[in-house]
Amino acid sequence: MTRTAIYPGSFDPVTNGHLDIIRRGAKITDHLLVAVAKDAGKSPMFSIDERVELLSREIDHIKSQGEVTAKIEVVSFSGLLIDFAKSSNAAMIIRGLRAVTDFEYEFQMTGMNRRMNAEIETVFLMASEKNQFIASSMVKEIAKLDGDISGFVPQLIADALTEKCK
Ligand code: PNS
Repeated sequence: MTRTAIYPGSFDPVTNGHLDIIRRGAKITDHLLVAVAKDAGKSPMFSIDERVELLSREIDHIKSQGEVTAKIEVVSFSGLLIDFAKSSNAAMIIRGLRAVTDFEYEFQMTGMNRRMNAEIETVFLMASEKNQFIASSMVKEIAKLDGDISGFVPQLIADALTEKCK
């Protein structure tokens, strides 16, 4: 039986923290769907197509390193995550957890999703030590203010951010 997991997010844009969760999430499942939300309730810097494209290129890079055996796919979705998870036959939703500040939001979201569908479990992976503080929102702010973002995102993403902030 193939075990499918969904790793959802806004990915606006993908960071080193997300990529770490993708690498590790791919080790605990057979099929990882990295799902980019169209309806994340924020006005994104990158369009849905741009976010999918940037993620796909980074995932191709991970695959080329031969580190993961699971099938990893990037998809976009609209509507409720839990409905998308069910229609994708996913057994679990993977979320990354950084500092304590993430907990309340994640706790609430997990509870709401569980109420809507108790069959789909949410599984948390703790962010690695060096990625504990990386947030797309802050990376964007640093990029806008001409700061150095090279420690937070891969070069491809840093270049895309620089281009957006011109
Ligand atoms: O990367 P983010 O912004 O923390 O991801 C949040 C995301 C996309 C997982 C969340 O906003 C979401 O699930 N959006 C889809 C709409 C939905 O299902 N909302 C109800 C959540 S209880």
